[in-house]
Amino acid sequence: MRTAHAIAVGLSAGFRLATAAPVSPSDLLYVTTYPIGDGATGKVVTLKLDQSTLKTVANSDSCGPYPSWLTQAKDILYCVNEAWGGDKGDLHALKIADDLSLTSLSTGKTVGGPVSTTIYGKGGRGLAIADYAGGGIDTYSIENPKAITPITFEVFPANADARPSPQEQARPHEAILDPTGDFLVFPDLGSDLLRVLRVDKETLAYTTTPSYEFARGTGPRHAAFFKSGTQTYLYVVCELSNLLQGFSVAYNSDKTLTFNRLSNTTTNGGTYAVPAGTSAAEITLSPDSKFLTLSSRNEKSLQYTVANGTVVPSDPLITFSIDAASGALTHVQTAPAGGVNPRHFSFNKDGSLVASALQSDGRVVVFERDAATGKIGKAVAEANVAGMPNFVIFKE
Ligand SMILES: *[C@@H]1O[C@H](CO)[C@@H](O)[C@H](O)[C@H]1NC(C)=O
Ligand SMILES: *[C@@H]1O[C@H](CO)[C@@H](O)[C@H](O)[C@H]1NC(C)=O
Repeated sequence: MRTAHAIAVGLSAGFRLATAAPVSPSDLLYVTTYPIGDGATGKVVTLKLDQSTLKTVANSDSCGPYPSWLTQAKDILYCVNEAWGGDKGDLHALKIADDLSLTSLSTGKTVGGPVSTTIYGKGGRGLAIADYAGGGIDTYSIENPKAITPITFEVFPANADARPSPQEQARPHEAILDPTGDFLVFPDLGSDLLRVLRVDKETLAYTTTPSYEFARGTGPRHAAFFKSGTQTYLYVVCELSNLLQGFSVAYNSDKTLTFNRLSNTTTNGGTYAVPAGTSAAEITLSPDSKFLTLSSRNEKSLQYTVANGTVVPSDPLITFSIDAASGALTHVQTAPAGGVNPRHFSFNKDGSLVASALQSDGRVVVFERDAATGKIGKAVAEANVAGMPNFVIFKE
């Protein structure tokens, strides 16, 4: 059997050039990186997962020097350049060519420090942007990717109470569309608010509606909606307090939202404190909506064995199951993220893989995941990526 298998492998390897299969989209991942060192430029890196290898197949500086987030729409990647130190950021519509190279079709300015985008509106014609450094939000028409057009550019007033940075001003950290598509929510880490905008799906215009107010010092960063039957829940990961808060969401007849807090634990799912220096980052609902996973940075509480056999410190990816009837969370697993500073991670479409971007280690790791239990398993492949990988998604 072994010999026959070896021959079969040899034959297929021999024929590989002649019968090269097209790259399956699900095997590609997109990563953004911050640069390290003066004059260096961050990149949009395309990785290809081929069984146990993860290799760079394209490397682009077309999003500018500080790419921080990507949103996919068919063969376009909407990429924001955080433009550290600048008073404005950039949005680019990057076209993915057949050879996987990226070209900026059109670009526009944003409020300073864009860090997250989401598509909204009928036909996916709008894009909303959260701008951390500049303390504001933007909306764009992306109806024509060759001519993206700003709709609004809004900077929020400085906070009235005197608090040290980063809470001296508004710091919207993520742009999220609710399950109805009628509301955009922005966790604002600086103002301790969940800002809520009601959108007109036709015109793409928005109306500001009342915010949810967190206790001062909470520092909400990212959030994930979960729709269960007629009920909607929202889970917010708070960077400054390292809290995970769950809410039920009421859709009011006056077209506003009310958030009723259901749970409040530390990000490890308990009431016990996380290590000093911990800084929670991402939160994502699994594709089947049964699990919630969050990343916690700078805990270094676990270990990960890199491909060359060296054991390195690792931060955790922490997973909870969600009770569909009540929205309650139960801790399922605390697994190594593959190194330090997992600013971002993503599931693939069927939830069988999770990719983790380790910003401080210059590494991207793909882990296997049991979609039934929600548990993250062993590393499938890893890649060293120049600079600081801050975001990773599987190509849709
Ligand atoms: C949430 O839990 C934390 C940690 O136990 C506690 O300090 C905080 O007061 C709680 N917040 C709310 C709003 O209950
Ligand atoms: C193994 O990988 C780690 C992490 O990338 C690196 O720091 C170390 O130098 C490598 N060791 C060897 C022997 O190549």
